[in-house]
Amino acid sequence: MKKGFSIKLLLILLLICGNHSQAQLKTIQQQVDSVLQLMTLEEKVGQLNQYTGDWDEATGPITNDGDKQNQIKRGDVGSMLNVKGVKHSHELQEMAMQSRLRIPLIFGEDVIHGYKTTFPIPIAEAASWDIDAIQLSARVAATEAAASGIHWVFAPMVDIARDPRWGRVMEGAGEDTYLGSQIAIARVNGFQGKGLGNTDAVMACVKHYAAYGAAIGGRDYNSVDMSERMLREIYLPPFKAAEKAGAATFMNSFNDLNGIPATANVHLLRDILKGEWGFKGFVVSDWGSVGEMILHGFVKDNKEAALVAIKAGCDIDMESRSYKNNLALLVKEGRVSIELVNDAVKRILTKKFELGLFDDPYKYLNTDREIKEMNNPEHVKAARRVADKSIVLLKNENHLLPLSKNIKSIALIGPIVKAVRQNLGFWSIEWDNDSSYIVSQWKGIKNKLSNNTKLIYAKGCEINDSSHEGFADAIKAASQADVVVMSVGEARDMTGEAKSRSNIHLPGVQEELIQAIYATGKPVIVMINAGRPLIFNWTADHIPAILYTWWLGSEAGNAVADVLFGDYNPSAKLPMSFPRTEGQIPIYYNHLNTGRPANNDNDRFYRSAYIDLSIYPKFEFGYGLSYTNFEYSDLDLNKQKINTKDTLRVCFKITNTGKIAGEEIVQLYLRDIIASVVRPVKELKGFQKIYLLPGESKTVSFIIDNEMLSFYNQQMQWVSEPGEFDIMIGTSSEKIKLKNKFELIP
Ligand code: NOJ
Repeated sequence: MKKGFSIKLLLILLLICGNHSQAQLKTIQQQVDSVLQLMTLEEKVGQLNQYTGDWDEATGPITNDGDKQNQIKRGDVGSMLNVKGVKHSHELQEMAMQSRLRIPLIFGEDVIHGYKTTFPIPIAEAASWDIDAIQLSARVAATEAAASGIHWVFAPMVDIARDPRWGRVMEGAGEDTYLGSQIAIARVNGFQGKGLGNTDAVMACVKHYAAYGAAIGGRDYNSVDMSERMLREIYLPPFKAAEKAGAATFMNSFNDLNGIPATANVHLLRDILKGEWGFKGFVVSDWGSVGEMILHGFVKDNKEAALVAIKAGCDIDMESRSYKNNLALLVKEGRVSIELVNDAVKRILTKKFELGLFDDPYKYLNTDREIKEMNNPEHVKAARRVADKSIVLLKNENHLLPLSKNIKSIALIGPIVKAVRQNLGFWSIEWDNDSSYIVSQWKGIKNKLSNNTKLIYAKGCEINDSSHEGFADAIKAASQADVVVMSVGEARDMTGEAKSRSNIHLPGVQEELIQAIYATGKPVIVMINAGRPLIFNWTADHIPAILYTWWLGSEAGNAVADVLFGDYNPSAKLPMSFPRTEGQIPIYYNHLNTGRPANNDNDRFYRSAYIDLSIYPKFEFGYGLSYTNFEYSDLDLNKQKINTKDTLRVCFKITNTGKIAGEEIVQLYLRDIIASVVRPVKELKGFQKIYLLPGESKTVSFIIDNEMLSFYNQQMQWVSEPGEFDIMIGTSSEKIKLKNKFELIP
């Protein structure tokens, strides 16, 4: 498939002619510099210009300029998104090879939860708290994407989110900074594998930098106003962790942060990312976000937009054409220094060299590999394993679950039972129109059981229905069965980009359907499929068994069947608080204490509470049940006092007191009791997933060090302060099982 000669060959020839030895080509940096020397200003700007392919579905508002292919041939385009498949990518790369310097294109894609094999949506995977599983999911996605010609995935999204109205909570790891950081690292490692240049590795793109998850009112793209302390303690750590893990690229967010759009935010990009953290990769704008600064009211036209964005450190302009149409002129006018442009170009060329594209622009384009990886049975197994681990058991009265496989009859009721593509979630890749590889819940449950079990189906209603017409059939189905399993929730496209909702109750008449089925007196299990924490108080209060299944991907049906019938004992825990009403939002476990705390029983009047509702969530962060029970005991600290150089070992015993094997996610929370800045009532600082056979006990230990006790003081210095700390070991953020104190001494 390799065609023509590459720019590397051209360079070697040039350098040999110029009496340069081969040794001088040693480092990538030297190679990058050599290419840069050959480039005209317009070719440099071309590297900073990114377009969406006209041929695939778009993921933002399209500008139809009809000339993209010629621009690629002229070297005016450096990278593309929404181009996939070996055949198609090959055609476009061939066009790039017609340009004067034959600089290869990079192809990027929103690979958010799997490529063809679709994994659970990111918030679901986060619920697994299983770092290896999450890394595996990203690894499989990278392998398939790379085999399909993709060099770059626009993931992971590492935005912390405390507002479930925001539709993009489905793409993140939830509300916690520590959990979010561990997951960010796992995803970067999974995507980038053994390193760029391997044909199963893709560049990660950490997004959306920064603070996008704190959009006011949960309204997508909205402004963010936050203190530097909040930014650095809560929102930035996952980005920093991902950078440290070697993430190749970052993406700007759409929002303004304290009045400055992220795309032109010098503080975020130059000072923190490229300055303090020393990030060497490149930054891409979000779709059109350079040009959108005009509507923000930040600049008057695309020329000014290009000026402020390049100065701030945004290296690639995705789709706004502000760089393409203005940057060369800005340089010629002396308003943008050529060094700024060179720096951006070098960052991009470096990645192109690291990917090996200068050696072979068609390196990732191998049809045999594409076919093989897109049909790799190991990927399907991995998707099922991760899906099993993502299902949260919210309630299980009288051990209604797991169900026996010998049950005589089950009524499967609800609009999601037979849904197929819904299971893929919002950001799934529409690989082709063939849905046969997607396992619906109906199919998964059917596969699990013998013909001795009769399955009765009734839809009951649509997801967002106002009609009760289907209720009668559903009630009839329920009354004919021994047990009822209902599957309800949101539609897959009710979360995701631009999918904020003001009302996050179960949509339509679904909760009424649940009430009608419950009234039959049959034992009812409800599965809730959604991309965000939903509100379903009646269901939570009355229905004996509830599974939160999110969107589980192409193996959804097999995974729910594994859990319903006990082939997998659920182990997941919520990565976000589930509110009782929208009025509690934002709601998160690691809040500060007030001077009049809500839980002050000595003064039930002057409290920081609601007069009409508890301040506590319906289901808290870190909550999730198992089919077995775990007992915590024997908390032991190896010291009562430590200094800043010391570490403290915390040990405790955990025992499986039930009759089946299971995994418990044990959570370590700390509280700095008195500090020069008010500290959260608790902060997650560690967790482990412990597998225990029935009756088995294990000793678990955590090491506490000074870093875990540090925060930004009033002078914004990262310090720890002497004094007492609470240690809390919990099965959730509210259900603390073991508690002690220790002292940090100077
Ligand atoms: C806009 C989204 O905010 C971003 O996450 C995505 O990667 C780009 N569009 C490209 O599709």
